[in-house]
This record gives sequence, C-alpha cells and structure tokens, in this order.
Amino acid sequence: MMRTHTCGGVTAAHIGQTVTFCGWAHRRRDHGGVIFIDLRDRDGLVQIVCDPDIGEGFRRAEEVRSEYVLRISGLVRHRPEGTVNSHLATGEVEVLAQDIEILNSAATPPFQIDEDNINENTRLTYRYLDLRREPMQKNMKLRYRVAKTMRDYLDRQGFIEVETPMLTRSTPEGARDYLVPSRVHSGMFYALPQSPQLFKQLLMVAGYDRYFQITKCFRDEDLRADRQPEFTQVDLEMSFVDEEDVMGLVEGMIRATFRSVLDVALPDPFPRMTWHEAMSRYGSDKPDLRVKLEITELTDVMTEVDFKVFSGPANDPAGRVAALLVPGGADISRGEIDAYTEFVKIYGAKGLAYIKVNEKSKGRDGLQSPIVKNLHDEALRMILVRTGAADGDLIFFGADKTKIVNDALGALRAKLGHELGHVDGRAWAPLWVVDFPMFEFNEDENRWDALHHPFTSPKDGHEDYLTSGPGECLSKAYDMVLNGWEIGGGSIRIHREEVQEKVFNALDVGPEEQRGKFGFLLDALQYGAPPHGGLAFGLDRLVALMAGAESIRDVIAFPKTQRANDLMTSAPNAVDEKQLRELHIRLRQPAGGQA
Ligand code: AMO
Ligand code: AMP
Repeated sequence: MMRTHTCGGVTAAHIGQTVTFCGWAHRRRDHGGVIFIDLRDRDGLVQIVCDPDIGEGFRRAEEVRSEYVLRISGLVRHRPEGTVNSHLATGEVEVLAQDIEILNSAATPPFQIDEDNINENTRLTYRYLDLRREPMQKNMKLRYRVAKTMRDYLDRQGFIEVETPMLTRSTPEGARDYLVPSRVHSGMFYALPQSPQLFKQLLMVAGYDRYFQITKCFRDEDLRADRQPEFTQVDLEMSFVDEEDVMGLVEGMIRATFRSVLDVALPDPFPRMTWHEAMSRYGSDKPDLRVKLEITELTDVMTEVDFKVFSGPANDPAGRVAALLVPGGADISRGEIDAYTEFVKIYGAKGLAYIKVNEKSKGRDGLQSPIVKNLHDEALRMILVRTGAADGDLIFFGADKTKIVNDALGALRAKLGHELGHVDGRAWAPLWVVDFPMFEFNEDENRWDALHHPFTSPKDGHEDYLTSGPGECLSKAYDMVLNGWEIGGGSIRIHREEVQEKVFNALDVGPEEQRGKFGFLLDALQYGAPPHGGLAFGLDRLVALMAGAESIRDVIAFPKTQRANDLMTSAPNAVDEKQLRELHIRLRQPAGGQA
C-alpha cells in the first residue's frame, strides 16, 4: 500500500507512530526555516511540519505548490501548546515529515480549493477541482448515504432492484423527450425514459410484486434550480396494495432516512391535505407549511363590485379573486410593492392591487389604497372580516384566471413569508397532498391533460366522471412535499384495460393512437394484471434539501447548466458529417441560409 493512514484519520491515539499519507497540498506556509503543508484527501486535512534537517525532503517541500500530489511519511506528535485546532478532526496532532515524495505536480488552479465565492460557471468548467472542495465532498457523501439508506430499507421490505431500458419509447410524463436516432432503422428514434413508469407496471404484471430502482430519467424541459435534464429517481412499485400501503411504506422510508442520516425525527404520521385545500389556502400543490401566510377567498364577494379588474374574474367560472394578508405589512414601501408587482407578473398576473390598513376604526378613510374608491362598503367590510386584517397590516389581491391567481399569490406567499420572517420555527415540514384531480384543462389546445400521468387510477366511485365530466374526476395520486418542494409523487394505477381505454378517450387519445403508442400496455393488462401502485422520489431534490443546498446542481457530481450545457465536456456538441450520414440525418439549415 502507498499509505498507512488517510489524512483525516490520525488522532492523538497515533502519537509516536510513523505514518505515511498520500494527498494534495491544500496549503503551504513557509515560516522561514520551517515549512507547513496542510495535506488533504477525501477524509480530511492533516498538518505536516517540514524541518530543514530532513535534507532532500525539505528541498522537495520548498518546490511544493497548491494541489501538488504528495506522499509523505513522518512521526505523529502532539501540536505545541496553543496551536491545537478544535475545528479539525486531526487538530490535536501534527506530523513531523521524514520523507516527502512529489507524485505529481499541478498547474495553478483557477480558484483556491478553500475559497467560498467562486463563480458557478468556473466551478462547472473545472468540476473535478470543485468536487475537491469540502462542501461538495460533504454533499456527495450525503447523497451516497441517503441512497444507501433507502436501498437498504427497500431491501429489508422485500423489494428487488430491476434495471429497465434507457433506449425505449416515449413515456408521457409531461415533458419533451430526448431522442436517440437509430442507425439500423433509418428514420426511427428511441426515446430516453422520462421515467421507468411503464416498465415498472409491466414488472407488476410479470409478478415481481415489489420492485425498486435508483435510476436516471431524462426530460427536456425548462430548467430551474430544482430541475435538471437528467436526474435520478428512487422509483418503486408494489402489487396488491392501496394508497395507504404505499404511502405508509414510503413515509417510513423517509423517516428512517432522516433519522439515520441527519439524526432528525420527522413527524409520524406526516400531515395530509387535499389538493383543493392546498390550492385554495396556499395557491400551490406543494405548499411550504413553515410559511404562516394564507390566501383568503374573495371571489363570491366581488361579483357585484364596480371594478372590472375584480368583477370580471369573479363572474368567470374559471376565475378567482383572492387576498394575501401580510401582518404588519403596512410599512412595506411603494418601491417594494412595485418590485412585488413585477414579481407576480412572472406568473402571468396583470397587477397587484393592495390595501394598507392604517386605522380600521376610521372606515374607508383609514384604508390606504389605489382601489378602495372602486369597492363598495360591504365589499370592504368583507375583505377585512375574511382576512382578519388588523391596523398595520397590508392586503395584496390577485384577480384573474384561477391558475394565474394561484401561481402568483402562491409564489408571493412563499417569497414574502421567507423575506419578512412569517415562518414558524420548524426545520422540516413534510406533507402529503392527496385527492388530485385526474385532469387539468389545457386552454391552448382545448382538451384535458393528465395531471399526473395517464396510468393513474380514478378514485373509487369516480370512474363515471371519465365520460360524464372529467373535470370532476379525482385520482388515487399522492405527492410528498417537503418545505415547499415536491420530492416524490405516485399513485395507484389502472390495472383494468377497459378503464385505461376510458382514460385515454378522456384525454382525446383515439383508438388508433392508443394501439400505436400503448398497445403493449393494453395487451399486458389483459393477461392478469394485479392491482398495483407506487411512487418515485426525486433523489436530487431530497438530497439538496437535506444538504441545505440552494440548487440540485450542488448535489449532482456533473450537472448541467440552466441552458442544459455540460461546461466541462462541452456537451452537447456538433458531430461530423459521417456520423450523421450513418444515422440517416441531414441537418436543416438555420433560417437565413447559413449552415
Ligand atoms: P414525477 O414526474 O412526479 O413522477 O417524478 C417523480 C419525482 O422526480 C422528481 N423530478 C425531478 N427532479 C429533478 N429534475 C427534474 N427535471 C425532475 N422531474 C421530476 C420530483 C418528482 O416528484 N412515474 C412517476 C412516478 C410514479 O407515478 O410512480 C413520475 O415520474 O421530485
Ligand atoms: P388599474 O385600475 O389597472 O390601474 O389597477 C389598479 C390596481 O389594481 C393597481 O394596483 C394594479 O396593480 C392592480 N391590478 C390590476 N390588475 C390586477 C389583477 N388582475 N389582479 C390584481 N391586481 C390588479
């Protein structure tokens, strides 16, 4: 072996022993006559002291620069009085070098490994250096431990891991597919899986009973802090189960993971909320329950007011008028309100009406607002009653299509809650959201879309709505939410062919398209498909939350940028003509004529 110990692995117990380490020169300090080297490996740091009396070794220590790869042997001794570093695992000891070998030199790195504020693009370009940094090493180890704990838990529960194909055909999870051209079949394409959804259902038909897989999924969608084009799911499926069975098992898994990895006890059981309640009170299907602000319904109050901005949506069946009370918000400045107005416009809102409640006892004179003049006394009274506003509060309003109001006020609620400190003291707020609608109406295409995916089972007694009123139909879907992030989603599936066909019909997928795209599933459902259901966690999101990271990029070894680039390898990249020809592909000339 090249070494006897890792850099992080020596303690006072080793004093007096001769040891050998391999690692990187984290820092080198020349104290005129004595050189100190902090040697680093995956396990930690150790301080090496190099005296001139080691001769040849000392000359090599003088040559050492940042990130040189070294092999150092020496004697472990106690640090001198007053120099013990209690922040460091090895902080009680230092190693008096006896021999130093330079295994490799290093070019001057573009940033210091212990620097904090490094531009993210630089980090991603030199990811192998970024990954040397302690926060990244912590995150990668945490990720490993989370995955390992979940894998062990599922193993104990009788699950077996089965791999499903990466070259497959489209699985509709609501994003665009990444396509892979076939060389053998001219003009044909594989799709990379958006999830293993259909394969895991087929494994249930095949009698595998309890399946899981920690696997990559691929979705070509707009990227954000919590979205990557390729990400990892902890995906599972079970037979002969209902919602309670699946939710109970995976809730247990998350509790066990938090307990074992973070020593945190999550509530038992997790609270539950229906989708309708979540949308109405929080404007979101993934509410952050640590935020104390809530949305107040005002649609019914605004039908008669002489203010089109409110009465329009109040009289539109697809519209909503709602308020967000900000306690103590009356001192929010005009400029801040303008900034919040810009913020809600991201979500399609056209404005952000507000009322500052200065002195309720003065009636409308005590209210400061550009819209009070448009509202009759009864409407004003109802606003104050329903929101429970007190002197010194501010009320924001949203009036538009329900989706816009929910998106805008939901996002504003989370933002204001965190910025102004309207949060309870909890570190972790898990939540199950249940009773999702089966479908949501797609205004642009004038048809119904599946809210989860089209293999989700309708709730008992709701099957008739598939034909009579898809908007009324609730599903057996459940999402797990943690601190405002959707970390997992699943459902009980359709296991009878005729129900699956009805759902496809409701989605306007005609018989021919059903056969063409999902014939294999419809066939399989005829051969004794058991009742089954499951769920998939977004591993990246879960680990990012547990690590306290702002973006899932910080818990992925080699992530992509917001524009789906890999800055280190420069992917995606152009390919040569020969490769394209083999794949039967001719590129379109971009508009303007130039290649
Ligand atoms: P869903 O589409 O909800 O369900 O995905 C499951 C979980 O995966 C995570 N996730 C993502 N994480 C990072 N980047 C992305 N682009 C991304 N997209 C999704 C989320 C989400 O909760 N087949 C179903 C599961 C099932 O029904 O069993 C599915 O894929 O945390
Ligand atoms: P206006 O009458 O358009 O000048 O708007 C008066 C106030 O209502 C302003 O504070 C706007 O920001 C706000 N407002 C306009 N449209 C909406 C809307 N759809 N929802 C909420 N507030 C709005």
